[in-house]
Amino acid sequence: MLIDAPMTRQPGMEPMTKTAKHAEARGFATRAIHEGYDERSEQGALIPPVYMTSTFAFDSAEQGAAMFSGETPGHFYSRISNPTLDLLERRFASLEGAEAALAFASGMGAISSVLWTLLRQGDEIIVDKTLYGCTFAFIRSGLAKFGVTARYVDMRDPDNLARAISRKTRVVYFETPANPNMRLVDIAAVSAIARAHGAKTMVDNTYATPYLTRPIELGADIVVHSATKYLGGHGDLVAGLAAGSADDMAAVRLEGLKDMTGAVMAPLTAFQIMRGIKTLELRMDRHCASALTVARALESHPAVTAVYYPGLQSFDQHALARRQMRAFGGMIAFELAGGLAAGRAVMNALSMIKRAVSLGDTDTLIQHPASMTHSVYTPEERAAHGISDGLIRLSVGLETPEDILDDLLGALDRVCPGLGRRSRNIDTIPRCVAAVA
Ligand SMILES: Cc1ncc(COP(=O)(O)O)c(C=O)c1O
Repeated sequence: MLIDAPMTRQPGMEPMTKTAKHAEARGFATRAIHEGYDERSEQGALIPPVYMTSTFAFDSAEQGAAMFSGETPGHFYSRISNPTLDLLERRFASLEGAEAALAFASGMGAISSVLWTLLRQGDEIIVDKTLYGCTFAFIRSGLAKFGVTARYVDMRDPDNLARAISRKTRVVYFETPANPNMRLVDIAAVSAIARAHGAKTMVDNTYATPYLTRPIELGADIVVHSATKYLGGHGDLVAGLAAGSADDMAAVRLEGLKDMTGAVMAPLTAFQIMRGIKTLELRMDRHCASALTVARALESHPAVTAVYYPGLQSFDQHALARRQMRAFGGMIAFELAGGLAAGRAVMNALSMIKRAVSLGDTDTLIQHPASMTHSVYTPEERAAHGISDGLIRLSVGLETPEDILDDLLGALDRVCPGLGRRSRNIDTIPRCVAAVA
């Protein structure tokens, strides 16, 4: 397969099989900066050049034919492979602890390309009840059009999956933490059940990133990401990534990506993501520390009735979070005593925090899932899937933590004036990495 072969046009690169060995030898941040690149192969250029080309010339007609047949490795058309994407894919595979990875035009491009490859008419997919809205729409309406049956299970309890899984189940799919209500799934337990029944486990790792959780090391088969979020990290691109075995990624490249969706990433986007990934560890540490501070402040505010953040002792899956996450991430969901009306009023009273969908950016973002990212669910589906109408989702950014708190608590105080001001004392921003034993 193309992806397994040494890249003849990039002599500095090593075969994919060595990547996993490197993964053990060097630290996460080091691999995020250096993995897969030797500047000596690019005239000493410290930053890898961007191969802005759609096609690649053959030395001869025979060589072209050999590349098309898979006999000879190499790049021949950028919808199938490109040296800049290839470097990102090797680097990202190393971060996820996977044999191989694949880059896409968007998170939905990654999810649909993988599922189109793994599933066929008559198959069944079992998905968790909480999914990002467009993933839910793709599975409920898109896959259904082509004769794939979806079953919805609350995977917070792996026994629910054990009861639902059948011979027809090809894929078990979930997000952890899930968008938007922060529910967690025990990756090791669910993957073991799926494997015992011959199904593949596919995890959307967008919220956690490989810095906080590595599903493949816990037994999952395939990881997908909206790289638009923490991996890009700066809110300036739309992209997707998948990681898994070399065989699975080669199959998705040649079927789902090449022939079915064509959702290929642009080389310049791959360059931007590699730049973003270099600071992923640093950024995630700050996202986590600030989010824990904000979650604690929200929890002690009288206008707030519920805070869903895996780092809080009160979070009902806190023990699982400590087991499978390095720290607890930058996303928080919360509900107010005044329900949706109060939530909207608080959103409108903010000055620095932006009212916007997406997440994982430098900027703190707030949105209302029921009317925005998850509006594709019917009200009945939202009720059945644990997405309440009053839920507000906050993506805690990288601004000075006191400023995030001031804006948010100030808005809460103004909208709920009878309830008194809260303390803004954040003398020690907890290092949430250190908070995990
Ligand atoms: C958890 C999750 N998965 C997938 C996606 C889809 O990603 P994209 O918008 O890059 O297509 C999103 C987008 O918000 C998301 O939040």
